[in-house]
Amino acid sequence: MIAITGANGHLGKLTLSLLLKKVAPTQLVAIVRDKERIADYLNTGIIIREANYEDPHSLNNAFEGITRVLQISTTAIGDVGTKQEQNVVKAAQLAGVQHIMYTSTLSPGSQAHFMAAKTCAHTEQLIMDSGISYTIFRNSMYMETIPLFIGNGLYDGQIYYPAENGKISFVSREDIAEALSNTLTESTITSHIYSITGEEAFTFDGIAKLLNQEKGLNSTYFNIKNEDYEKELAELHMPEAERAFYLSMADGIKANEFAQTDKSLERIIGKKRKSLIEYIQMP
Ligand SMILES: NC(=O)c1ccc[n+]([C@@H]2O[C@H](COP(=O)([O-])OP(=O)(O)OC[C@H]3O[C@@H](n4cnc5c(N)ncnc54)[C@H](OP(=O)(O)O)[C@@H]3O)[C@@H](O)[C@H]2O)c1
Repeated sequence: MIAITGANGHLGKLTLSLLLKKVAPTQLVAIVRDKERIADYLNTGIIIREANYEDPHSLNNAFEGITRVLQISTTAIGDVGTKQEQNVVKAAQLAGVQHIMYTSTLSPGSQAHFMAAKTCAHTEQLIMDSGISYTIFRNSMYMETIPLFIGNGLYDGQIYYPAENGKISFVSREDIAEALSNTLTESTITSHIYSITGEEAFTFDGIAKLLNQEKGLNSTYFNIKNEDYEKELAELHMPEAERAFYLSMADGIKANEFAQTDKSLERIIGKKRKSLIEYIQMP
């Protein structure tokens, strides 16, 4: 049986819907925090189990009888997130899971600027030391999240963000989900780490140029200071810890922690990846 944690999230749901086309629903376990919130899958025959990354006991129960797990990285920040992900790996070990797929970030490392990259590095190491075979997807930035950090920039052309000339190899969640579902259903899976990226990496200035070219917007990129970005986030009533997370992401971009490009994704899905131009052209 294949289990997906974070099955109620964007990537989890997309992956489940693709797995449903390949595997009998009775062989799929959606692990969610709250069963009430997974209405989409209630009538599909998928087995739904509740567990919280905070609660090892709930994870142990949820992994019973599971051979392959897709461990979706947590949304929790810092030490809390690191501990949660450790709970997931330990529970998989205890349950005798045979293969873990983990959604990491493109440049994990204890010295990375991006806060989540520290958690991902720690989790990757735990998985590699667990004795369980693994597939690690080191995902670049999802293109669908661009509006979260540049607001209306894609629509009004005015991009304010403290990234200097850092590049990002934006990748679509749909393509990642397809690659996850293909890999999870391979007859034999061996341990592998993949960098999962778009075909090309763009600076924000490059995105502004694309917006001019594709949408005729009179687009400009303003490389603002971190202090001004933080002020903007504070005005949106974002708590301090979250502001630190978003600033670390901007610093990670500046340091080109999302700039690498790699062809693995196209090989796994067997077709061209969605490009940033295609995303920008969408209404
Ligand atoms: N590469 C990128 O650009 C990028 C962008 C955003 C996030 N990410 C990372 O990639 C992951 C998947 O992305 P996504 O877009 O699917 O994120 P998402 O929609 O926010 O989904 C995250 C999932 O994780 C679950 N989760 C969080 N904390 C949990 C806990 N304590 N116990 C159990 N489940 C928990 C959430 O459960 P609920 O449904 O109950 O809330 C949700 O289903 C994220 O969690 C994050 O680590 C990457």
